[in-house]
Amino acid sequence: MSRLVVISNRVAVPKARGVAGAQGGLSGALNAALKRNRGIWFGWSGEEAEEFTGDLHIQRHDDVTTATIDLATQDVEEYYNGYANSTLWPLFHYRIDLTEYEREFGVGYERVNENFAKSVVPLIDQDDMVWVHDYHLIPLGERLRSKGVKNRIGFFLHTPWPPTRLLVSLPFHERLVESMLHYDLIGFQCNEWLESFLHYCAKEMGAEVNEKTGQVTLNGRTSIAKAYPIGIDYDHFMSKGETGKARQAQQRLLASTRHRIAMIGVDRLDYSKGLPERIDGIGRFFDTYPDRVRELIYIQIAPPSREDIGSYQQIRSLLEQKTGQINGERSEVDIVPIRYVNKGQSQEELFGFYRASKIGLVTPLRDGMNLVAKEYVAAQDPEDPGVLILSRFAGAAQQLQDALLVNPHSPDDVAHNIRIALDMPLEERKARWQKMIKTVREDNVLRWTEHFTEDLAEIREKAE
Ligand code: UDP
Ligand code: G6P
Repeated sequence: MSRLVVISNRVAVPKARGVAGAQGGLSGALNAALKRNRGIWFGWSGEEAEEFTGDLHIQRHDDVTTATIDLATQDVEEYYNGYANSTLWPLFHYRIDLTEYEREFGVGYERVNENFAKSVVPLIDQDDMVWVHDYHLIPLGERLRSKGVKNRIGFFLHTPWPPTRLLVSLPFHERLVESMLHYDLIGFQCNEWLESFLHYCAKEMGAEVNEKTGQVTLNGRTSIAKAYPIGIDYDHFMSKGETGKARQAQQRLLASTRHRIAMIGVDRLDYSKGLPERIDGIGRFFDTYPDRVRELIYIQIAPPSREDIGSYQQIRSLLEQKTGQINGERSEVDIVPIRYVNKGQSQEELFGFYRASKIGLVTPLRDGMNLVAKEYVAAQDPEDPGVLILSRFAGAAQQLQDALLVNPHSPDDVAHNIRIALDMPLEERKARWQKMIKTVREDNVLRWTEHFTEDLAEIREKAE
């Protein structure tokens, strides 16, 4: 079996910034994928230096070898806070209103991709399979090829891919996509993002596109594009549920909510997660069903994310303002309807909180997949499972059709479905959960890794 060289901006190394639990789905999934494969994980250490040196920090922990580099302060500004998270992230989440197009962001993005390529090339052996992840590193494949790397190189996008009519608002969009077509295999979270990508390639690049096979041919080179829905590390996550920490967390939450139903949301504090809109939906529930206010307590776990970026600071104040307003209007001396926790929680604690909550409220405005939805399902008691309310705009909705699917932009729809969830009889809860748990258990992260890497191996064999 070939060794796997995984490359992503964020690497789950101890002591890295944000390690307390706000690292997001990518790093958890890659950690799981790498534990099962001999391999190495390359990326940013999370540390800043005055100048870029290219010095490698090699660490081995939890059966995974990581090799990381520090970025220069200017790189963090222009590449991470800039092009990756102020240009591509909002655009890929359909938010052209928040998308910033600064020339130096693009320059920083190209520079850091070049530095990533230079630093990782000496780590790549002849038979390795290289797997690049996410929007930070789209041009990396082309950079590796220009340095003579002949290995199989795959790319996986963890976010949505926007519709063509939005993507064309990006200056030099053709250049970005052209560089992406240097990968042998390009993976997306679901068919919707895949279809948008193929549409763009045909319409804007004039590429030859075979919608059935996902083959995209441009300038005599062919890539394959395909959907590979990511899952959770099911067995590992379930083992967290057996720990004392998980049981304690469950008990703590149950004891503090007493006879009320706990409803939970767990999200990085990101505008794509639809948090203010969710609070509006909860407010609408309280307004529409005033006699039910005392039945429900909403717990929002929202660890801070990308705090140096203005749009993230704004979404945080808006969320805090809306939460404060509802609590001010609806609290009694003995009841506060919304609890807002602005810090990361461990996976054990989350397991316990999910299990203690009879409703999981996951309402992103747009999300590549959303692993929280799958973790909520996994953590339920099979004899008395809770109800998942899920945005129809999350990639996860294509797999979890037995959730209560909602439009996160509509406070009425959210309110109405909270009422349905509260009143759902045990038999229906069980029937829905049994279908969802099957998908969550089977379509797990190991299967995702296997599918992607097997396809990548096969493509090159055929080509050779
Ligand atoms: N997470 C965590 N602690 C927290 C909040 C989130 O460990 O306090 C984890 C969560 O369990 C999940 C991941 O972060 O595994 C979030 O992944 P998701 O796909 O839902 O969203 P992303 O943050 O990647 O956009
Ligand atoms: C999402 C992105 C990942 C990113 C994560 C956390 O899951 O797809 O690439 O690592 O959010 O964001 P951060 O900026 O802290 O790495």
